[in-house]
Amino acid sequence: MRVFILLCLLALGNTKPYQPVNVMEFMKNYDIMMADAVDDDDDEEDDDDSDEDEGSEEEDENCPPGCHCSPRVVQCSDQGTQIKNTLSKIVLLDLQNNDITEINENDFKGLSKLYGLFLINNKISKIHPKAFKNMYNLRLLYLSYNLLTEIPANLPPNVIELRFHENKINRIQKDAFKGLRKLHVLELGANPLANSGIELGAFNGLSTLYIGIAEAKLNAIPKDFPSSITEMSLDYNKITKVEVEDFIRYKNLQRLGLAFNQIKFVENGSLVSIPNIREIHLDNNRLKKVPPGLNSLRYLQMIFLHGNKISSVGVNDFCPIGSSVKKNLYTAISLFANPVKYWDVQPAAFRCVTGRRGVQLGNFRKK
Ligand SMILES: *[C@@H]1O[C@H](CO)[C@@H](O)[C@H](O)[C@H]1NC(C)=O
Repeated sequence: MRVFILLCLLALGNTKPYQPVNVMEFMKNYDIMMADAVDDDDDEEDDDDSDEDEGSEEEDENCPPGCHCSPRVVQCSDQGTQIKNTLSKIVLLDLQNNDITEINENDFKGLSKLYGLFLINNKISKIHPKAFKNMYNLRLLYLSYNLLTEIPANLPPNVIELRFHENKINRIQKDAFKGLRKLHVLELGANPLANSGIELGAFNGLSTLYIGIAEAKLNAIPKDFPSSITEMSLDYNKITKVEVEDFIRYKNLQRLGLAFNQIKFVENGSLVSIPNIREIHLDNNRLKKVPPGLNSLRYLQMIFLHGNKISSVGVNDFCPIGSSVKKNLYTAISLFANPVKYWDVQPAAFRCVTGRRGVQLGNFRKK
């Protein structure tokens, strides 16, 4: 088995509030994923270490100067920001929490096996358009907590997860992600992105499953996301309404996050476009009514409506009428912190809820 080396260039002492990636967790997952993969690829150059067993002593020739090596981990903490990449076998490169300001053309040269690159919490504002050249194995690219103002050009073509949380991105240019056919997760939250900053065709060519643009400056649901999307996280924006056109393209949506917006109004007919939805977060908005059409969503299990201005609940607001079948019963309906007169709500309004804690009506029932 090939020896995978993990290079850590962790510098401690920075106090920005961010969630570091636990690289050892990734290593475990990577191993599980690769355990079944037949090792029949371009391994000729690895023959010299093919006889190594789990737990055997690491050959010191693989240990870069100034670093500490154990069988599967190379620790190079406190080495400054320079990247010495003589290690073509590196699969995970953890550069979190450093002071890197720029990624140059050749910084990652030779890291042809790299699978995960963690650049979270640096000061990166510039990435050379050829910096990710030839990184065909790169699947995870985490650039959150940096100073990027736009999406870097020529992203690695086989990337599965791209994370840009909390940068300064205010514009997504047309075809920004073109060619990234394997991308599943695109995290763009906590950027100063308004709808006008998303160019028409920005998401061209994607078949992404998750897109997150929470904590941004959106005032409407973007209509240009890939139609493959199953999860949309748009919490903490300034969206004021939900309209029929909003979801027409998103038939596969299963989870919708719209909490902490300024939504006053959900147009009747908008929710029927997302028949597979399981979970809707509309809490902490300005709704005066239960959104129309919930009772036609046969798979909906969780609907969060607390912290609105809903003053009444009708007997058919949540549950199907007559002989219509609900495939999944609700496990959570939250209505607390609304001006509902709870004693006026007919118990039958919740006839399609399962579990004793399924409905949260008053403030006394905390989640
Ligand atoms: C919403 O539209 C449906 C279908 O046209 C209709 O049956 C229903 O009564 C409407 N609901 C409201 C609250 O207007």
